Amino acid sequence: MRFSRQGEALRVRTPAKINLSLHIQGRRADGFHDLQTVMVSVGLTDTLLFAHAPTGDVSLRICSGAARQHPLPVDDRNLIIKAVRLLQQETGYSSGVDIALWKKIPSEAGMGGGSSDAAATLVALNRFWELGLSFPRLHELAAKLGSDINFFLDSFPAALCTGRGEAIEAIPLSRRLYAVVIKPPFGLSTGRVFQTWGTLQAENKDSAIESALPSSRILKVGGRTQRELKSLLGNDLERAARTMNPALQQLLARLNRLDVIGSGMTGSGSACFALCRSARQARVLAGRCRSWNTGKVFVVGSGV
Ligand code: C5P
Repeated sequence: MRFSRQGEALRVRTPAKINLSLHIQGRRADGFHDLQTVMVSVGLTDTLLFAHAPTGDVSLRICSGAARQHPLPVDDRNLIIKAVRLLQQETGYSSGVDIALWKKIPSEAGMGGGSSDAAATLVALNRFWELGLSFPRLHELAAKLGSDINFFLDSFPAALCTGRGEAIEAIPLSRRLYAVVIKPPFGLSTGRVFQTWGTLQAENKDSAIESALPSSRILKVGGRTQRELKSLLGNDLERAARTMNPALQQLLARLNRLDVIGSGMTGSGSACFALCRSARQARVLAGRCRSWNTGKVFVVGSGV
């Protein structure tokens, strides 16, 4: 997350993420799933501008980008507005704010765009309105809003996320990672992918829930060798997502044939990635991936 002042307004750029790994450890009593996932923030960013609202209202305007194709709600259904309302409830602060959003992170992609915007709203308004909430309190509010928001609050380059995804432990990266990301024209709803995972799990009663990732492997995400990184990859939601849209199966198979460190789906999809050996390899492969016409192609590096 990067902040800058624009006159009286506060501008923030906030990143997307990819899940290098995602392991489901079981369904919880509250209907969510316990996860063990390694997330890396990547330099594909949304920009939000917070300005004082003379009217005292809260408003959200979407100014550009990916959201034109998949219009996003700008009312209380949007996580940004939910974050504003939660801060107001928490502090009793009732002034308005005009929020402008330039959206680059694709929606329903498994790249955490909505969560990143919500995290940016919590941190930015805490500054903009001088609310003085501590980071631990912001983390509590983030966990109330959703499962991925906590990861974006701290701006760690990489983290192991457990619980619903809201318990964050930073992982140092010893070098910058580069990937080609492809976002197919269709999106996938996180809730529906988890539901399909549950159905598949129930149908295959003998297939045990994937085992936890050994911590020795997690720590090696920042490790020296590409083999170590490759051993980390794997996403338990991939099968469910492939079942929901067979085009994903073809895309993953194509990515799997590339001579890269490894490939997979991020989060609950529908975006997929190829983890490349260098920035140069990512740029070259992006050209090849564009010729497939399977979706929008991005070259991303870890961090913001
Ligand atoms: O928390 P978030 O709003 O991102 O989750 C969207 C949906 O994904 C939840 O309503 C739930 O159905 C599913 N989910 C889950 N277990 C998680 C995270 C999300 O079942 N750990």
